[in-house]
Amino acid sequence: MAKKRLGVGFIGAGFITRFHIRSWVGVRDADILGIVSRTKERAEEAAALARKLNVGQARVYDSITEMVADPAIDALWICSPNYTRLEVMEEIVDALARGKGELVGVTCEKPLGRNVKEARRMLELVEQAGLLDGYLENQVFAPAVVRGKELIWKRGVPLCGRPYLARAAEEHSGPHEPWFWDGTLQGGGVLNDMMCHSVEEARFMLTPPGKPRQALTPVRLTAYATCLKWQRPDYARQLSQQSQGQTDYLRRPAEDFARSLIEYRDEAGEILVVETTTSWCYVGAGLRLTMELFGPEYSVLVNTLDSSLRVFFSRRVKGEAGEDFVEKQNAETGLMPVIPCEEVEYGYVDENRHMVQSFLAGRRPEENFSDGLNVTELLMTAYMSVEQGRTIEFPPPDLDSYVPAVARGEWNPRR
Ligand SMILES: NC(=O)c1ccc[n+]([C@@H]2O[C@H](COP(=O)([O-])OP(=O)(O)OC[C@H]3O[C@@H](n4cnc5c(N)ncnc54)[C@H](O)[C@@H]3O)[C@@H](O)[C@H]2O)c1
Repeated sequence: MAKKRLGVGFIGAGFITRFHIRSWVGVRDADILGIVSRTKERAEEAAALARKLNVGQARVYDSITEMVADPAIDALWICSPNYTRLEVMEEIVDALARGKGELVGVTCEKPLGRNVKEARRMLELVEQAGLLDGYLENQVFAPAVVRGKELIWKRGVPLCGRPYLARAAEEHSGPHEPWFWDGTLQGGGVLNDMMCHSVEEARFMLTPPGKPRQALTPVRLTAYATCLKWQRPDYARQLSQQSQGQTDYLRRPAEDFARSLIEYRDEAGEILVVETTTSWCYVGAGLRLTMELFGPEYSVLVNTLDSSLRVFFSRRVKGEAGEDFVEKQNAETGLMPVIPCEEVEYGYVDENRHMVQSFLAGRRPEENFSDGLNVTELLMTAYMSVEQGRTIEFPPPDLDSYVPAVARGEWNPRR
């Protein structure tokens, strides 16, 4: 590609798009030039944020097709809700097929699809359109994860052998929009929403630097999920009120706690283990990510709430609820951890820089739709394990057509 700068358009103007826009101050050689969203007001707000931060003269388009048609737009970032994945991708591919415009690449937020069939279709569509593809799993770009992996593999592994156990947990008090809570719209509960991060981060840590994901073969998977908090009547009522009756956890809950244990084999046949925990019923300062890696003579420990900055507010400081200390903040007084730059810490800056540089170089990003599909395959196997109450050998035979009970609106652990 002859271009030296990339013009980027965002699809969706919600929570994660705002994160990406803020991250862009650390991304080189690309400008945010377009936004499309279901609500025009939100799109205008996001475009105004991009212009205010001087990360691009973003304008709002009426449709994806119109944005594709603008020669200034070279790549799209899909950041709309999970239930819109296929309609969004189909419109992009259709616009290109009808010669409306040209693109170099597309990136897509996690999860790539609500089930294997959807994720596989996303991959087929980018291949059909001849686009480069990036899967937006920010945690494999988080500086602490990348640096921890680098040090272990450089100093520890050559002398003492490879790591054998990776643990990852992602926990907070619950998502910000009603559609996340609805199994049919989102694809599941916390397992689908957050275990996608943990399984991929842990897989990344156990994979030798520079090796493809095929260096590790998933062998079997055991998972557990239930609804611990949000099915309790008081909390179910709270969810219902927050969503004008849309969310009904007494009749149609999704899991708010889930864990999985994945056994892998490496190329030498060694057993490796990934252990993940995810929760929407965590009570603490806010979002907590923990990542760990263990080998024969070393370990890596990351806890995002062990921040370098803490602030204290006495009980007389009665401020408004906000998210200015940490994502999914739960309180505003007392001794509070603050993450000074979440866009850097969680990996968004390095993720976006990698995607931009890959697209400008005409290279497929290292984290791409094939990875997104593999993550979905693991998550669907985890749901099978939960439903059948047993360990599942990977890959199970009917993975491609499987839709979890929670995504069909038929799951209820109290029934
Ligand atoms: N990497 C992460 O840690 C992370 C964090 C949050 C969300 N996400 C993912 O990002 C995606 C969006 O999540 P969010 O929290 O920003 O959701 P959100 O509900 O806050 O925002 C979604 C936005 O998409 C718009 N939208 C809805 N349908 C659309 C359509 N058909 N075309 C274009 N725009 C449409 C909405 O108007 C809204 O502006 C989800 O897939 C989610 O899983 C990732």
